[in-house]
Order: sequence, then structure tokens, then C-alpha cells
Amino acid sequence: MLKMSIVYHSETGNTKKMAELIKEGALQLGEVEVSLMAVESLDQQALEKSQVILFGCPTYYGTMSWQMKRCMDTLPVKVEGKLGAPFASAAWPGGGGYEMAEMALIQGMLIRGMIIYSGGVVTGRPPTHFGAVSCRTPEGFDADRCRKLGENLARKGHELFGPAAI
Ligand SMILES: Cc1cc2nc3c(=O)[nH]c(=O)nc-3n(C[C@H](O)[C@H](O)[C@H](O)COP(=O)(O)O)c2cc1C
Repeated sequence: MLKMSIVYHSETGNTKKMAELIKEGALQLGEVEVSLMAVESLDQQALEKSQVILFGCPTYYGTMSWQMKRCMDTLPVKVEGKLGAPFASAAWPGGGGYEMAEMALIQGMLIRGMIIYSGGVVTGRPPTHFGAVSCRTPEGFDADRCRKLGENLARKGHELFGPAAI
């Protein structure tokens, strides 16, 4: 069974909802166990066992929130070689900076030795580009993109970690 953790920071619920939709998408694929956790209550054991870890947060001043930055700076587990992807929420589409927040998350994941994947524009619609982004409460296209990211990461996790993950 593939193990996935979804780590999120959320003050007003938008990013948390994104995390739930990503979980839903992963579970649709099957053969995957998903742990959802807020940055304030990390499940160290689940993180250690996970082959796939996603990180998501709101956009604050055009980049990742400080709460997520603190989480990344102090993450208590070794994540080298695990598969990862970012997701980010913002209030303003087309200029609010959620893709900058995603790039900051990607930097953190790369520097900790993770393998980054989203599926981009080659796994069908909706495209996931750098990860999943959503404006305020994820609905419609934004919600579908979250589900798609979860599905993509679960599928790639199965491919990469194979029978060991099942
Ligand atoms: C301190 C602060 C800074 C923010 N900066 C931005 C920003 O630069 N761009 C933007 O689009 N939204 C910005 N927002 C709005 C949040 O990113 C947005 O409301 C998000 O959906 C909140 O996610 P949450 O419900 O998971 O907490 C900011 C919010 C706060 C509190």
C-alpha cells in the first residue's frame, strides 16, 4: 500500500479544503493510505513511512506563509528520495502570487532531497502546472485540479515505489 502524507497550513480553511480534495483524488486511484496533517500537529511516524509528501499553504505577501516556512525549517523527518508536490491558496488570481508560493515550497522540497512531480500538462485535464493552486475556497476547476494532483501523485508513487509500496 502506497503511503501519502499531506501537510498543510491553513488559518481560514481554504488550504485545508484543498488538502482534503487532494486526498479525495488520491483515494480514487486506490491502493493508497493518506494522512492529512496541519503544520501544528505533524504526525512524525506517518511522515517517516510516507513515500509521497505534499506541502500546501496560503500565499502571504507573494510567497509561502511563515507558518509553513517554519514547518519546513524544522521538519523532524528525513524526506530525501520521497516524491513531493506543492499546493497553494491565494485571494487574488492572476497576480496574487500563489505560483511564487509554490516555487518557494518546491525550493524547500528540493533542498531537502525530495523528487518533485505534478503531472503538469501531460496527464489530461485539468493541468496541474507546478502543483495545485486555488483562489479562496476551492470550487469547480480549482477543486478538480486539487483532485487531479492527488491522483497524479498517487499514480507516480505507484510507478516509482512499485511493489514495495503495495
Ligand atoms: C498576512 C497575509 C498575507 C496575504 N498575502 C496574500 C498575497 O500576497 N496574495 C494573495 O492573493 N492573497 C494573500 N493573502 C490571502 C490568503 O492567501 C488567502 O485568503 C488564502 O486563501 C488563505 O488560506 P487559508 O484559508 O488556508 O488560511 C494573504 C493573507 C494574509 C493573512
